[in-house]
Amino acid sequence: MGEKQVKVVFTPSGRRGSFPEKTPLLDAARSLGVDIDSVCGGRGLCGRCQIICAEGEFPKHQISSKKEHLSPISDTERNYSQRKKSLAEGRRLSCHTLLLDDCVIDVPPGSQVHRQVVRKEAEYRDIELDTSTRLYCVDVPEPDMEIPKGDLQHLFDALEDSWGLVDLTCDINLLNDLQPLLKANSRTLTVAVHRNRTIIALWSGFHDIAYGVAVDVGSTTVAAHMCDLSSGEILASSSLMNPQIRFGEDLMSRVSYVMMHPEGAKEMTSAIREALNTLFDGVVKQVNGSISDILEITLVANPIMHHLLLGIDPVELGGAPFALTIASAVEVPARELDLRINNGGRLYVLPCIAGHVGADTAGVILSEEPHQQDAMTLLVDVGTNAEIVLGDKNRLLACSSPTGPAFEGAQISSGQRAAAGAIERVRINPETLEPRFKVIGSDLWSNQSDFQEEIIKFGITGICGSGIIEVVAEMYLAGVITVDGIIDGSLINKTARVVEDGRTFSYVLHVDENETNNLQSQSSILITQNDIRQIQLAKAALYAGVKLLMDKLAIEKIDRIRLAGAFGSHISVRHAMILGLIPDCVLDQVSSAGNAAGTGARIALLNQHSRGMIEKLVMEIEKIETALEPRFQEYFVDAMAFPNKTDTFANLFSVVKRPLEKKVLSAKSGRKRRRK
Ligand code: FES
Repeated sequence: MGEKQVKVVFTPSGRRGSFPEKTPLLDAARSLGVDIDSVCGGRGLCGRCQIICAEGEFPKHQISSKKEHLSPISDTERNYSQRKKSLAEGRRLSCHTLLLDDCVIDVPPGSQVHRQVVRKEAEYRDIELDTSTRLYCVDVPEPDMEIPKGDLQHLFDALEDSWGLVDLTCDINLLNDLQPLLKANSRTLTVAVHRNRTIIALWSGFHDIAYGVAVDVGSTTVAAHMCDLSSGEILASSSLMNPQIRFGEDLMSRVSYVMMHPEGAKEMTSAIREALNTLFDGVVKQVNGSISDILEITLVANPIMHHLLLGIDPVELGGAPFALTIASAVEVPARELDLRINNGGRLYVLPCIAGHVGADTAGVILSEEPHQQDAMTLLVDVGTNAEIVLGDKNRLLACSSPTGPAFEGAQISSGQRAAAGAIERVRINPETLEPRFKVIGSDLWSNQSDFQEEIIKFGITGICGSGIIEVVAEMYLAGVITVDGIIDGSLINKTARVVEDGRTFSYVLHVDENETNNLQSQSSILITQNDIRQIQLAKAALYAGVKLLMDKLAIEKIDRIRLAGAFGSHISVRHAMILGLIPDCVLDQVSSAGNAAGTGARIALLNQHSRGMIEKLVMEIEKIETALEPRFQEYFVDAMAFPNKTDTFANLFSVVKRPLEKKVLSAKSGRKRRRK
């Protein structure tokens, strides 16, 4: 009689086959091409190969499956449970479990190499885990005088035999460590292989920790998320202010700094690189880990941050034609940019789209997938430059528009960054014209009884971007400003909130408690005519950019709008639409995309194929240069009005009452008020 054959079916893949009795399950799985993880190569050390034997009748497969159809729990499994953590009920290490009879074997998600990493946002596909760096444990044969080959070749051969890895190369910096590491642990090594091509790190013996960090370098904030490359899980996050702020608040002032200081670019390059090193130390510390376990970084940034990080002078990005030195993705050993992770660790920087549309927008696209959508989708990342992408599965267009720093609180008389004490929400009673507001740091509205007590710690210090958008939109709805953005001076007779301010008028949003008799004291918060003008200029630039893209696509309406970035997360979409900052759309189809650029960096970290996909897609995106488009000015002028001179905003005004058109009295001349 021949050897007994047993049937096995693996779920969820459905792969099936017959094997001789006592075949190790991991071998059976491998031979069927079942997606099952392993780092230790079947030594019972890594615990990645866990399976569950399904119990019951499976008529479809003609299998009666029982856990007794597998070999009894082995010593290796018991040791694993003692050494690492107990195997959960019903779990087995497939590398140390033999097939004794027919069975159905479930490979749980945590044991699959290409498992799905769940994204919080319900409407998005999960990320398929497929990292570009993986660990492999291997026994390297002893050198043999009869077979004269170097230890590196022995290592390559062992990796081919055990793991099927072929045509490998090795980071030259590792060669000096190879023989000592081989000696230290009976010639057992763990290697990190990047892109199935290059050995980038070595450990003596078995090692199963591999981290990757996804970084979003913004002009204000730099944020990092450290992920476990074997599970995709975010283990630690950290952020800090971009230290380049000391060279200039916004991007253009940083470019000016470079123009005026011969060493300026170098100074900013080392500042951002040091900031990244601080972040790497910070995230690793949160898990009591080692910096040498960070094997990969993926990074997104706007074009100027991108160039400075790479050590490229960004001066050409300061003016037309905004020429990038390099637009394509960059992949280099991180050490070449003085980034201190594992010495062989790699950095991948997503591609830029155009001179003003950077790798951060590539990240937003990777995260939001407008190219997969039937719905005509607008993605807007508002910063000093608004980066705008519009399209669907057929065609994608991108441009940027110079919104300036008004939405960040700059150029606004009482403007400030979003921080405790900044007004962030505003409502104005259309009858009395009295405002109420909320400040960052408190959940109470200003007309609630405990408000004063609650804000005593930080006071009311100014108004941030989301507050400015709301107050201007509310002023328009309440009739304090006209369609053209003029503060109605005739209201001076109706409310003390409107005051003369030189040749124009201002709206008093907040009066300091101690200065109630002086509405225009330095500590009061006024919305001046010039503030309104700055918001008009900023929102008109953004809207004109969107209109140009709509023109190019020959479309009249947009189905959904996603607002990316910190600003997009905090603003009220309703108020943004009332201003005409974004085009008319069904309101519940407008939402925040959160830190989509950062999510894009995380996708690129966890799924290597996404890199090739975004590199290809970026080439296909049609780039529109707003400065060269003759209709930009026309759209810009129309968009100076609230919400727009020509566009009717039918969706918006089906749910929001349109204010009456009114004539405005001009202000009498008066004393010019001095403000900081
Ligand atoms: S393969 Fe590592 S424990 Fe089974």
